[in-house]
Amino acid sequence: MRVDHIGIAVKNLDEAVKFYRDILGLELVKIEEVPEERVRVAMFRAGGTYVELLQGTDPDSAITKFVERRGEGIHHISIHVEDVDAKTEELKARGVALVYDKPREVAHGERKINFIHPRSAFGVLIEIMTRRGEY
Ligand code: CO
Repeated sequence: MRVDHIGIAVKNLDEAVKFYRDILGLELVKIEEVPEERVRVAMFRAGGTYVELLQGTDPDSAITKFVERRGEGIHHISIHVEDVDAKTEELKARGVALVYDKPREVAHGERKINFIHPRSAFGVLIEIMTRRGEY
C-alpha cells in the first residue's frame, strides 16, 4: 500500500492550477473531467505521489457541497491497494463504514475506487483505489 495522491477541493480549478504549477512549481500531468464523480481534476506529480485538485462541475457534486460547507482544502487522502474489491469486502467485514457498497469504476475503467467514511477513519475521508496505468 502507498499514498497515491492527496485530493484538494477548490472553487476554481484554473486559478488553483496557476498556483500549484506556476508558483509552487509542481509538474502538471493532466487536466480531465470525471463525469461519474461530477468533477474536473488536475493531477500534479509530487515526487512518488500526486496532488489532485478537484472542482465540482455541478451543484450536486460532492466537491461543490464540500466547498460550500467547509471551504476549500484537503478533501481526501487516496491509498492505492492491490485489489480494491477485496479490500472493500475485508473492511466491511471488520465493520468499517464505506461510502459505496461495491467499488466504482471511473475514468473509463482506468481506476476503481471506494471511500472509507470519515467516521471510521478519525475524521479523514480515505479513498482506496486500484489503477491500471499512470496518470
Ligand atoms: Co482522489
